[in-house]
Amino acid sequence: MTNRSAGGRRAIIIDTDPGQDDALAILLALASDELEVLGITAVAGNVPLELTEKNTRKICELAGKPDAKVFAGASRPMVRELVTAEYVHGKTGLDGPDLPEPVMALQEKGAVDFIIETLRDRATDEVTLCTLGPLTNVALALIEAPDIAPKIREIVMMGGGFFEGGNVTPAAEFNIYVDPHAAATVFGSGVPIVMMPLDVTHKALTTAKRIDAMRAHNTPVTLAAAELIDFFERFDEDKYGTDGGPLHDPCVIAWLLKPDLFCGRDCNVEIETGSELTMGMTVIDWWGVTDRHHNAHVLRDIDADGFFALLTERIARL
Ligand code: RIB
Ligand code: CA
Repeated sequence: MTNRSAGGRRAIIIDTDPGQDDALAILLALASDELEVLGITAVAGNVPLELTEKNTRKICELAGKPDAKVFAGASRPMVRELVTAEYVHGKTGLDGPDLPEPVMALQEKGAVDFIIETLRDRATDEVTLCTLGPLTNVALALIEAPDIAPKIREIVMMGGGFFEGGNVTPAAEFNIYVDPHAAATVFGSGVPIVMMPLDVTHKALTTAKRIDAMRAHNTPVTLAAAELIDFFERFDEDKYGTDGGPLHDPCVIAWLLKPDLFCGRDCNVEIETGSELTMGMTVIDWWGVTDRHHNAHVLRDIDADGFFALLTERIARL
């Protein structure tokens, strides 16, 4: 697990299934000069692929970055049928503000080919993969081109849960549940992983005070971001009875920018792919009761005020 930017900007690929929280993560990345976004790859998840890729382009244009490179990836999980989450994100996947249809083009190349070719072209340890949705694209790339595994600096991923349980079944978090086989491939790949499970993202709540502070910047991006959150948070506020909902995906980008906002420990993480009852469960050996290999740095705590201050300050720059 490394966080040092090698020299200049840290080169990243964002893999995503927008999704309002994905949108905030993409805005944060595009607003941060420390990061070089080599490309953004869309995957089916919160909504089908034709919407996640279009939503990705909408977000890039909202950020004023129409030159960003957006690629379409897997339209379904490796083995299981696609499960989507319109009940959270709305029928477009990006309900809330009325964002215009994108003008920027989708790249011709497929996402998996882009991931493979980029890693082969770059030096070892140079590219970080930031995954915000099901891990299908990354798993397919690792299966098709095992030689890329040692080229990946690390995978910083939102997914899973342990002390918090699941959010789509009692045992499983959505990103892992949608494609547990892909998650098992990634967690078994030997690539260094930084894991942002529900245990930490559930502490990053979009409270009224935090979102009012974002809205107060009164820029097109901060106003749109607040509208995205206003729509997105309602499901979890009703479910958990909280002021605000968990803002999952921007935690991935915030870790790259300010890792000291988070704390956790190296653990073994295994993925359930057999039992229907616990399908997609991330079995995190937090207490070290086994001698299984530590394959992930698992975050469990966050300075939530610091996180929202970073997020708001950055997107207000766009
Ligand atoms: O469980 C939360 C995750 O699932 C987030 O990435 C959200 O965008 C959905 O993809
Ligand atoms: Ca997501």
